[in-house]
Amino acid sequence: MREGAPLAVYPGKDQLAEAAAERFFEAMSRAIRKRGGCFIALAGGSTPRDLYSRLAARSRQSGRPWDKAHLFWGDERAAAPDSPQSNYRMAKESLLDHIDIPPENVHRIRGEIPAAQAAAEYGDVIRGTMPSRPPRFDLVLLGVGEDGHTASLFPGTPVLDEGCKDVAAVYVEKLQSWRVTLTCPILNRSRQVIFLVAGPSKAGIMERIRSLKTPSKEYPASLVQAGEGRVQWMLDQQAARLIENRREAAEE
Ligand code: 6PG
Repeated sequence: MREGAPLAVYPGKDQLAEAAAERFFEAMSRAIRKRGGCFIALAGGSTPRDLYSRLAARSRQSGRPWDKAHLFWGDERAAAPDSPQSNYRMAKESLLDHIDIPPENVHRIRGEIPAAQAAAEYGDVIRGTMPSRPPRFDLVLLGVGEDGHTASLFPGTPVLDEGCKDVAAVYVEKLQSWRVTLTCPILNRSRQVIFLVAGPSKAGIMERIRSLKTPSKEYPASLVQAGEGRVQWMLDQQAARLIENRREAAEE
């Protein structure tokens, strides 16, 4: 990855969540100020839970214009909304149940129906909700798996070659399961993308991604190139350990 994609490192998960919450609300306010509303895609997995709890806590402290926000998801598992596997359920527990967002402004991917149908439906929901053509998120939150996947863009899957659909269904062999995911076209049109990466298990993949000279399908997270300054990486020190080791070695 070109060193150019800004990378910020925080001492621990709490500081990371706090800083990410700041950037989240900045992006939300900027979009609402400029366009009267904001369209945000939430990340799944476990890392964002701390951020979502922080967003909820800060919203309790001081009101936030959630009535002008529309929330989406970057991907969803083949799971019902009340399943422990569901990305929607994680966000509902940590954020949605604690903020005053109109239910009609929450647009979950229906993981409980066949993936191809859910993907087609979600593309319609995005187009029906966002005024911009093509649809464009103001902010997308993403995580990175140890194999370099992001959202449900996994290495070796055909969805990496999707060049026009904004949402696709993908069968992930290694998981033996279907997923629904935003694709590179819509991710790369985003006004802002924030990758949130934490924990020692991500040090290796982060070092490999940041060492890339050009984006590589081997590491799908590196394919998210939303344009100059639109992609930001936010890591805790554990996830950044090998990157920092390499940088220190280069400076010796
Ligand atoms: C998912 C996510 C996935 C996640 C990464 C990182 O559905 O699991 O969309 O892309 O962001 O796997 O997950 P963690 O943050 O839990 O490490």
